[in-house]
Amino acid sequence: MSIKINFEHEQNPYLTGSYAPVKDEITESNLKVIGEIPADLHGVYVRNGPNPRHTPEGRHHWFDGDGMLHAVHFEDGKASYRNRYVRTKAYEMESEAEKGLWRGLMEPAIHNPRSMPIKDTSNTDVIFHNGQLMALWYLAGQPYRMDPRTLETIGADDFHGKLKLNVSAHAKVDRKTGEAFFFDQSFFKAPYLSYGVVDHTGDLVHTAPIEVPGPRQPHDMAITENYAILMDLSLFADPEALKAGRYKVNFHPDIPSRFGILPRRGDMQSLKWFEADPCYVYHVVNAWEEGDEVVLIACRVKDPEPTSYDNKPLGKMLAFLRLDAHLYEWRFNMKTGETKERPLDDANTEFPTINDNFTGYKSRYAYNVHLSDEPTLFFDGIFKYDLQGDQHQRFWFGEGRRGSEAPLARRVGAKDDVEDDGYLVSFVHDERENQSEVVILDAQNLEAGPVARVLLPQRVPMGFHAAWVPGDELT
Ligand SMILES: [Fe+2]
Repeated sequence: MSIKINFEHEQNPYLTGSYAPVKDEITESNLKVIGEIPADLHGVYVRNGPNPRHTPEGRHHWFDGDGMLHAVHFEDGKASYRNRYVRTKAYEMESEAEKGLWRGLMEPAIHNPRSMPIKDTSNTDVIFHNGQLMALWYLAGQPYRMDPRTLETIGADDFHGKLKLNVSAHAKVDRKTGEAFFFDQSFFKAPYLSYGVVDHTGDLVHTAPIEVPGPRQPHDMAITENYAILMDLSLFADPEALKAGRYKVNFHPDIPSRFGILPRRGDMQSLKWFEADPCYVYHVVNAWEEGDEVVLIACRVKDPEPTSYDNKPLGKMLAFLRLDAHLYEWRFNMKTGETKERPLDDANTEFPTINDNFTGYKSRYAYNVHLSDEPTLFFDGIFKYDLQGDQHQRFWFGEGRRGSEAPLARRVGAKDDVEDDGYLVSFVHDERENQSEVVILDAQNLEAGPVARVLLPQRVPMGFHAAWVPGDELT
């Protein structure tokens, strides 16, 4: 029996306008360029995001949509575009059924397929590891390998047949060693957190259960040269609601946030917990070691359970997606066990990127998008934070122009020790012109404005995380 709720989808801002899904998967070369694509920009800018393929039943959450990659390939001053769904297990099940089989995060899971109570859409992050893309999901799911040139889904990766866990959206790659570090979370039974390491060949080389008091949903993690940092934060899913098939998160302002630091191949015996003020963290900028201290820079949300935006059915989702995050520093002393913490800025900035050659090593610059003061999550600018000085820069996308997470594309021939020797690339959708484009900025001089703008053949809906694949690593 159908239990369809007649909710007016046209009233859901995350299904309309700049968020509306696109229907077609297309490929187009020789895109029109305003300005000149730098000859030393070679590689692929790729971004993941939700693109619901079937009309959702019930209330739709932005996080529910099927994963779709959009990519622009730059080479010899030219650009080509393509977009493809991540062909997940859920995608194939719905293809076979010729209809949607899941209801979203805001509806009870009881009517969803028993084999997958919440749909693993692989819609959240995309990373580049071992010569391939890996599409990942925010509640930890199957990692899907994708071809960075064609965006074809190669398939779910089981890391040489060894993977028994799921993989977090934010796995961290050390580009010096080629290793990828991830965690898994469990809703119903211990271990509620697990940790894993995949080597540069894609072989699962280490896993460890992590003891936490109950189900926890950290979103990101960090690495340093010698350690991994896992989080047990003050916002987590209500265990009783989970048992009843509902996903409901609560902030506990009386429970400290905890950061577990363990050697890269460590376990609970070698893990040290550090307590800090209650908070939630969606995204890490970077972490590194300085003497006895482990330094963590991230976007911290002080009040992660805001009151409803407008007391309407979607008000809670709208309020949560305001984020209200601020650049923040923690220093964990591995000798004394002491935590020091401090805010670094008061602007609402998120979706940070760095030169990913520096992931786990001391870095100076963070490139965060700024969140506009609107009901839905829109990025209206990019802030370049100077963590060692005051050389901050800002670039505003412009009236009615919405940006995306902007990774650093290292210039061909970039000097290894010049961290910002490259370009920031970002999808931008101009709502007034209904035209999407890619903006290319000089990372050393954001305020000079775009070096080039590449006009795209279709709208790129607002999305989540992005990656840069260097041209010389495309196979
Ligand atoms: Fe994320």
